[in-house]
Amino acid sequence: MGIYGEQVVPRIVNVACGMRFNKPLRERVCAGLHGRVVEIGFGSGLNVPFYPAAVTSVSAVEPADLGWRLASKRVAASAVPIERAGLDGQALPFADGTFDCALSTWTMCTIPDIATALAEVRRVLVPGGTLHFVEHGRAPDHKVELWQNRLNPVQKRLFGGCHLNRDIRALLATAGFEIREAESFYGEGAPRFEAAQTLGVAVSP
Ligand SMILES: C[S@@+](CC[C@H](N)C(=O)[O-])C[C@H]1O[C@@H](n2cnc3c(N)ncnc32)[C@H](O)[C@@H]1O
Repeated sequence: MGIYGEQVVPRIVNVACGMRFNKPLRERVCAGLHGRVVEIGFGSGLNVPFYPAAVTSVSAVEPADLGWRLASKRVAASAVPIERAGLDGQALPFADGTFDCALSTWTMCTIPDIATALAEVRRVLVPGGTLHFVEHGRAPDHKVELWQNRLNPVQKRLFGGCHLNRDIRALLATAGFEIREAESFYGEGAPRFEAAQTLGVAVSP
């Protein structure tokens, strides 16, 4: 991955994803999580303060050692037991049907083979289990989408493989999820090519 990917990107992610305007989105996306939860792309644990009391454990999947270290205070302060249980969302080290819920926040943009990762999430969820997500991705406006396509190569280089233009709803549908609820909007604090978000809950039938 190199020094930039290992030492710089996780710090950028910690600051950028930790912006105050993301907090209400984290609160909304975590609402309804319960039981055993797998969080893919745990990062620096910025969702930890928003886990509801109904969550009994969290298995964190995160490749970046520095991200996990930056999460240490939040993990230590959590009432919910959290363990770093995996390194790669594309190959989850869990048996089929292990989890009641999954959580992904601004991670589907970055995992290289997101189709495989979503198939893995479906495999480890119980039937009827839910994936709670908030992700940036392809903008609904064509002009913005054109800029996303132009800027995508630069974005990927600067931000650890992050894609600007993934179609989150289509990826979920192709993986066999049924979208129970979803809202798309431009979030605060970023230009539109980065701020096109989709927040919702998808069910693994
Ligand atoms: C933009 S950050 C979001 C972090 C965190 N979810 C948040 O909301 O603050 C994307 C995260 O995905 C992680 N990631 C990259 N490749 C991954 C993979 N193959 N499996 C799981 N996570 C991955 C990165 O290390 C990074 O922590």
